[in-house]
Amino acid sequence: MYAERVLSGMRPTGSLHLGHYHGVLKNWIELQHEYPCLFFVADWHALTTQYDNPQGIEKASMDMVVDWLAAGVDPNQATLFVQSRVPEHAELHLLMSMMTPLSWLERVPTYKDQQEKLAGKDLTTYGFLGYPLLMSADILIYRADKVPVGEDQIPHVEFTRELARRFNHMYGREPGFEDKAREAVKKLGSKKARLYEEMRTRFQQNGDREAIEQAKAVLDEVQHLSMADRERLFGYLEGTGKMILVEPGYLLTEASKMPGLDGQKMSKSYNNTITMRESEESVAKKVKSMPTDPARARRTDPGDPAKCPVWQLHLVYSNDACKEWVQQGCRTAGIGCIECKQPVIDGILREQAPMRERAQVYLDDPTLVKNIIADGCEKAREYARETMRDVRESMGLEYN
Ligand code: TRP
Ligand code: SF4
Repeated sequence: MYAERVLSGMRPTGSLHLGHYHGVLKNWIELQHEYPCLFFVADWHALTTQYDNPQGIEKASMDMVVDWLAAGVDPNQATLFVQSRVPEHAELHLLMSMMTPLSWLERVPTYKDQQEKLAGKDLTTYGFLGYPLLMSADILIYRADKVPVGEDQIPHVEFTRELARRFNHMYGREPGFEDKAREAVKKLGSKKARLYEEMRTRFQQNGDREAIEQAKAVLDEVQHLSMADRERLFGYLEGTGKMILVEPGYLLTEASKMPGLDGQKMSKSYNNTITMRESEESVAKKVKSMPTDPARARRTDPGDPAKCPVWQLHLVYSNDACKEWVQQGCRTAGIGCIECKQPVIDGILREQAPMRERAQVYLDDPTLVKNIIADGCEKAREYARETMRDVRESMGLEYN
């Protein structure tokens, strides 16, 4: 019913690593070719756990955006922005907080999980409890129907769906809805209006779903309708009220299989990462000091790649011929570990080369990044304002 729209956000954690690249960014880059995409820096979300030390957030945000651009997120295709620069998120968050049952928030699995995980930190705050609600506002304000998230975030999208339903149920019947809908029908022009009315009758009298689809197709052809009128016409068609907020769907991003330097998943908290723009020397040094199969204490001892984290990286970076060379050489002690690591180093550097190149442009001229963000925020705000107009109106807060 709406133009398909993708929205995703990332907390500013500073420089991103190759796990982010393989797990999230490559996915975003594919999506940006397929849909209108909005990607944002969730800087307020960082405050939910980092409220006592907010100083680094701005720099971390900018570094992260440079990494997005370095990876190939294209500001001409996707809209990139910073959450705190679109204050409408806060307004929607506040308004929804009035109708969000506390128990719904307390039940979100990450609430207790994170408190346990970050036990050293006082997370008995209002902001932390409300964090899923803030995420809901992020999503609903853009009426995004596709939210790419990792598995851990799915409950938040489900929560968002429930809230949207609750909201529409509570406020979906705007005063004078029928009159406004009839006015909107007139705006279709006489021919399309007649078609629309016909389909509406067919659906309301006979429950003919086909008629709904046809009427929707008619509405899709009309360019000049405002978003509000379009929604009224959809609502009027099906005999529901106005759907003010859209229940989002999610696109599950597969968990990153990117192994870290120690064979565990690459993660900042395991201290086993290679950053996206890590210097060449540092990449070489890190890979060279990776642990290998402990059975290969001496060069002449044969080993087993299955027991070696370096092999995990060959699976990501090496072609079949190289992998065969590793299997053979390792098992027969035909190659040494230093030799074995070289193609991995080469593979990582090859992957990073275009990223480094793209990033350099932005590092040389940081105003480019600022301008991209400023443009993105402007665009995002237009969408957000439109939703907020409808939200305020539906809640009786229009004052005009
Ligand atoms: N909560 C997400 C995370 O921690 C980040 C996020 C905030 C987000 N708002 C969002 C993701 C909206 C998708 C959509 O990873
Ligand atoms: Fe690991 Fe390669 Fe050494 Fe085998 S030869 S133990 S796969 S680094």
